[in-house]
This record gives sequence, structure tokens and C-alpha cells, in this order.
Amino acid sequence: MSDLTLSKRAQTIGDSPTLKINALARALKKEGKPIIHLGGGEPVFPAPQAAVEAIIEKAKSRKIKYSPSTGTPELKEAVAQYTLANYGQKVGPENIIVSAGAKQALFNFLLAIVNAGDEVVFPAPYWVSYPEMVKMAGGTPVIVRPAKGRLRVSFEELAATVTDKTKAILLNSPNNPSGQVFDADFIKQVVQLAEKKQIFLLMDDIYHKLVFDGKVCPNPYDYSQDGQNLVIANGVSKLYGLTGLRIGWAVSQNRSLISAMGRMQAQSTSCNSDLSEAAAAAALTGDQRCIEDLRSLLQHNRDVLMAELEQIPHIRVQKPQGTFYSFADFSYYNSDSQVLAQYLLEEALVAVVPGQAFGMDGHLRISFCASEDSIVQGVRRIKRALENLPIKEG
Ligand SMILES: Cc1ncc(COP(=O)(O)O)c(C=O)c1O
Repeated sequence: MSDLTLSKRAQTIGDSPTLKINALARALKKEGKPIIHLGGGEPVFPAPQAAVEAIIEKAKSRKIKYSPSTGTPELKEAVAQYTLANYGQKVGPENIIVSAGAKQALFNFLLAIVNAGDEVVFPAPYWVSYPEMVKMAGGTPVIVRPAKGRLRVSFEELAATVTDKTKAILLNSPNNPSGQVFDADFIKQVVQLAEKKQIFLLMDDIYHKLVFDGKVCPNPYDYSQDGQNLVIANGVSKLYGLTGLRIGWAVSQNRSLISAMGRMQAQSTSCNSDLSEAAAAAALTGDQRCIEDLRSLLQHNRDVLMAELEQIPHIRVQKPQGTFYSFADFSYYNSDSQVLAQYLLEEALVAVVPGQAFGMDGHLRISFCASEDSIVQGVRRIKRALENLPIKEG
């Protein structure tokens, strides 16, 4: 055997399909192709002024050093205030870990709790990284699929997959890619189930303020006894459009869990970027109108997208209740979403993400965080390209 073989882990972990589509769209654009990118996962809004000024100020100090491993006191204080304001939970620095995006916070969580063979349960459609992260941590992903034609699992469907091997449940609401929000009754039942079974429940709340039509995301703490098994992950990427800072966090009343997550981080990345932490703290404590501006723009874009999608025959769409993604069923045209997405990229020059990546083939994720004009022109191009497909019999 060669010494240059890759680990079994490396051989089983796939590429991130969303990052791949972004790279492909970028490369085609660079070649001069008029690509419309409706596959993206970041708001086009410019960074909040306060965040920009904080970076400049920090850079001017010429002190760009290692920072405390799990976050600067200023940023942790800002996260504590955010947690109090949005979840009614009083937390201190020992309850918070700041990481390189919610993504690393999630990964730290899995590394801290999963033993080989442990199961981690989450519903489809799911964020592309969940299965791969669970596998990297040595666990087994257990995917709960909703009934045909639905984008949300019922509590009964989810509860049926919880076994003695279940270590945690991951919930993302509003959901990437479906844009659907789990209602209060569902959240209440899952919180109570996780508490009764003594398993962790991680709420991936990265889109929790980007909800439409007056909706508010239920607060899981309303239904929990002591919150010891509950973890909330969030960050500045989506709310403030600060994806490039790579700042997210996890909060829990369970200090030994947060401490273990901190050890994972200290031994891998040491700490976060000093500049980014200053900017994230400024965004959290600065003028918050940018969130409402973004939310209302996204709601408008959602409506524009829905009106355009309605013009495409034979697809099934459920109105997104939050996020900046729609997840329509295009299986009439091709049940292999990878093939269909590739066709649309080549034929219509529109980038969308195949549903296969989110555990639901036949669907396409179409983002509405692009400009209104891109949304309108992009969907019209998709419609025309679909009209060119051979007509189905029957
Ligand atoms: C559901 C979900 N969770 C977590 C993340 C990670 O966000 P970040 O690492 O940028 O904070 C994303 C990003 O796309 C996401 O969609």
C-alpha cells in the first residue's frame, strides 16, 4: 500500500455542492458568459458602516494579534445581549463560543458530543453540510424525510427516527433550502422530546430574523425546563450580509458543552480573526435598521420570484416563509436535479443548486438574494430553456 493514500474519512466526504456551484458560476462569468447567479447564499447588501469602521480602526491600531480563543469579551457581551433580547436567556461568557462562522460552531458542537456510531437526526431538506459534518465527527447521519409533496416533516415522522443511539437533533428554521418555518407546536414537541430523551437539540437559527409576512420564529426556550441540552447557533453572515468575516457563535446554558467545544476550537484554529471579531461586535451593537431593510427587501424579492415561477407550468412551489431560498419541485422536467441544473447552466446560463444536494432530488433551490432584475431575467431564461426540452408523453 502506498503511503500517499488518503484517509477513509477524506474518501467519504463530498465537496460542498453550493460552494462548487458558486465557483463554477464565477469561472463562467470570468470567461465572459452572461451568467445569472440564482444559486447564491449571501445577501448582496453592502457591509454595515459600523462594521467597516471597526475594521479600519482596529487595523489602524496595528495590533492584529491572536485573540481569546472562544471570542473577545466585547463580542461575547454583544452575543449575550443578542441572546437576552431574542431568547430571553441570560448568558455569560462561559455560555458562548464565537467561531469562524456558524459552520465552525456547528462542527465544534458535533466534535464535542459525537462518539463513533452515534446517530444525529435531522429533517430533509437539510443544509448540505449536515451529513458530511456528522460523518467527519464519526457519527451516522439519520435523515427524516417528509411525506411526498411536503417540505416539512411532522413531529411524528421525526420522533419515529429517535433511537437509543440518537445523540442529537439538528433543526434549521427557517430552513435552507425550503424557506419553511417550523411552527411553535412542532418546536415545543421536539424540545420536550429531546429533554425527555436527554439528547442534544441544536437550533441552527442563522436565518431566524429573515422571516416574512409578520411571522416570528418560535423561541425553543419557551418550552424547555433548564436548557441544558439546548444549543443555539447563529452568526453575522446572513443577518448583516457579513459572510466574509467568518464570524458565528453557539450559545448554551450547558457550560461544560461550551467548554468542550472551546477545546476543539483551541486545538484546531486557535482563535478567530481579531479584525473580524471587532467588526462583528460593531455590527451587533450598531444601527439595527439594516436587518429590517434586508428582511423587507427579501420579502419583496420573494414575491417577485413567486410571480415569475407561477409562469412556469408543471412545477410545484411553496411560498418561502423566510430565508432567501425557494425550493420548487421541477421533477416534471427531470427527476435528476443535477442533470437539470447542469442543463440550465449550459442552456439558460442560470446557476441554481440541485435539490439532490439537500437530500430531495427533483427540486431546485433558487435564491432570491440576487437583484430583482436578475431574479426576473433568470427565471424567464429558465422558463424558455424548459420549453426547449422534449415534450413529455401523457
Ligand atoms: C443553514 C445554515 N447554517 C449555517 C450556515 C453557515 O453560516 P456561516 O458559517 O457563514 O455563519 C449556513 C450558510 O449558508 C446555512 O445556510
